[in-house]
Amino acid sequence: MTILPLPEIPFDGAISQFYENEAPKAVRKAVENASKRDILSDSYPYDRWMEKNAYQDELKALQVELVKLQHWLAASGNRMVLVFEGRDTAGKGGAIRRLTEPLNPRIARVEALPKPTDRQQTQWYFQRYIERLPAAGEMVIFDRSWYNRGVVEHVFGFCTPAQRELFFRQVRQFETMLAQDGIRLVKFWLNIGQAEQLRRMLARERDVLKQWKLSSIDVGGLSKWDAYSNAIHETLTRSHHDDAPWTVIRAEDKYRTRLAVIRHVLGDIPYPGRPDKLPRGVDTAICGGPALWQ
Ligand code: ADP
Ligand code: AMP
Ligand code: MLT
Repeated sequence: MTILPLPEIPFDGAISQFYENEAPKAVRKAVENASKRDILSDSYPYDRWMEKNAYQDELKALQVELVKLQHWLAASGNRMVLVFEGRDTAGKGGAIRRLTEPLNPRIARVEALPKPTDRQQTQWYFQRYIERLPAAGEMVIFDRSWYNRGVVEHVFGFCTPAQRELFFRQVRQFETMLAQDGIRLVKFWLNIGQAEQLRRMLARERDVLKQWKLSSIDVGGLSKWDAYSNAIHETLTRSHHDDAPWTVIRAEDKYRTRLAVIRHVLGDIPYPGRPDKLPRGVDTAICGGPALWQ
């Protein structure tokens, strides 16, 4: 078999250079000393990743429930919006993939909008997201969302401070309007620490099947950890409200994260046939409100 040459590696070596030369010492030590299944956060409630067989069994059971939820959604004509936010490499894409895997793509649709065009830059900030909202019987999953203005656009200077203030003034009203119109909105914030982020970026840099995931934002963001932290804290605080509360998930373990995401979605919806106890119940040690963010 002839293997075609791979495209150029983007940002060749930028992650390892940061790791060798700039990463905080404690972070580098943590990554260096970790063995494969260790969790890289002292305060995480488990030491190791969940066992893979147990994960797969629970995932199966939860995906069966998702199919029931899908029946309810189509039959009732309800509308759902899921928002996925989190730092680069937090695992948004992987969680979304497990959630949508058993579902009909006509019912559950993923929207990962690219950076705004020049024309969109001149429109109302929420406009391009509104165009993607669900019709009856649909679930729209935003892989990143209007919260870009609270965090990444701010950290990289892609919006002015005045634009960001306006965003914070409007976002609660915007989400309240969605809720008043009957849209069920769930907002996830996946949270990881600096060592785990670096470990995942190093893995991406080394793996030809993952290199495409590295963007200039990821590379540029490495040295902006604290700016991100401040922007995230402010965003979670200012946009947590009764009509659209944040669900924060400690995302160091990808397996537990994906299960927590699906359980939370199921727990939010009164679909027929939902078991009183979803497989293994909600893990409040890693899934809760903004107080879990640190
Ligand atoms: P992802 O992490 O989703 O793979 P990136 O890391 O490339 O994507 O970018 C993070 C987010 O920042 C994306 O939602 C992207 O649209 C946004 N973004 C990138 N460049 C700009 C820009 N110049 N102005 C506004 N948003 C931008
Ligand atoms: P892999 O997907 O196994 O190539 O791993 C890539 C990176 O993702 C690893 O270096 C880990 O940091 C992380 N990772 C993989 N699986 C898990 C898991 N179950 N929990 C937490 N992190 C994981
Ligand atoms: C993902 O969660 O799939 C990543 O967070 C995407 C990214 O690196 O931005």
